[in-house]
Amino acid sequence: MGSETSDSRPVILDADPGVDDALAIMLALGSPELAVLGICTVSGNVSLDIGTGNALRVLALLGRDEVPVYPGAGGPLRREAVYATEVHGPGGLGDSALPLPGRSSSGDAVSFLIETLSALPGEVTLIAVGPLTNLALAEARAPGVLKKAREVCVMGGAVDEPGNITPVAEFNFFADPEAARQVVRSGASITLAPLDVTHRVALEASHLAEMPATPTGRFVRGAVRPAMELAMRVRAGRQFFLHDPLAVGLAICPSLFRIETVFADVETGGDLTAGQVVADRRLFTTEGNRKGLPIRCALDVDAGRFLALFFPRIFSEAVSREDSRR
Ligand code: BDR
Ligand code: CA
Repeated sequence: MGSETSDSRPVILDADPGVDDALAIMLALGSPELAVLGICTVSGNVSLDIGTGNALRVLALLGRDEVPVYPGAGGPLRREAVYATEVHGPGGLGDSALPLPGRSSSGDAVSFLIETLSALPGEVTLIAVGPLTNLALAEARAPGVLKKAREVCVMGGAVDEPGNITPVAEFNFFADPEAARQVVRSGASITLAPLDVTHRVALEASHLAEMPATPTGRFVRGAVRPAMELAMRVRAGRQFFLHDPLAVGLAICPSLFRIETVFADVETGGDLTAGQVVADRRLFTTEGNRKGLPIRCALDVDAGRFLALFFPRIFSEAVSREDSRR
């Protein structure tokens, strides 16, 4: 049993787990506003197989084995896969050592996306926190399907902020720029959580020291620790940015964010610019001449309020399970 109620909104998470993806899954499942219909996986931080196993591991940790996991694309639309194992570790979940549960994954992500969005037009929120390959494939196979989502909350891109994988590109958009462009151009109702907000919310070393002595608390500490040590070595900041949970935050509580509608597109070419978000904010042009389509971009966030919402929710499953054992 999860935290959802009869008022919960149906959501699908599309992820490449990944440490912060795992935290996003925990936040979504601990949020009464959301009913998670399924988790789609995609090649990104790690290979598709590793990421799919990690989604299953996290669900087992939370006692949520009834949530189906649908494997999707094994690589980007037109490029070689790039992984982020230097941040997330070779197994994708840092130093944590969760067992792989016995159950297996379900059908395939692209079919699940198309069938679910078509069956519930205007109702389902997609929360995409990896490269956008699965969403682009769904749109290619069933044109217009992404417009059937109530909202598509995406962790990706950088608007006024530098990139994190190249000077101008964020990892998810860089890993599959063609997919990112197709999704941004789909006309779906997109709300972006770019680096502009995700670089403002982080777990600090003091948070790790205060993790509860529960299986989930130990998991978070082990998963985050190597990335935090890496951050200390490369930029002298003992912080782990909560990229993917911020996209879940957009679906739960948009009032935490300052959101601006921006005409935007994604660059797919260029040695230096692949995956860059190009925002057309020219002063001297008319709306009809702007490049790209209008999407909502979160450009600031109340980090304190987000963290106050985040911590009790990521540990709510553990708390309720501990309670039920008493
Ligand atoms: C994004 O890249 C991945 O490494 C994270 O999981 C997040 O989705 C941040 O750029
Ligand atoms: Ca991710």
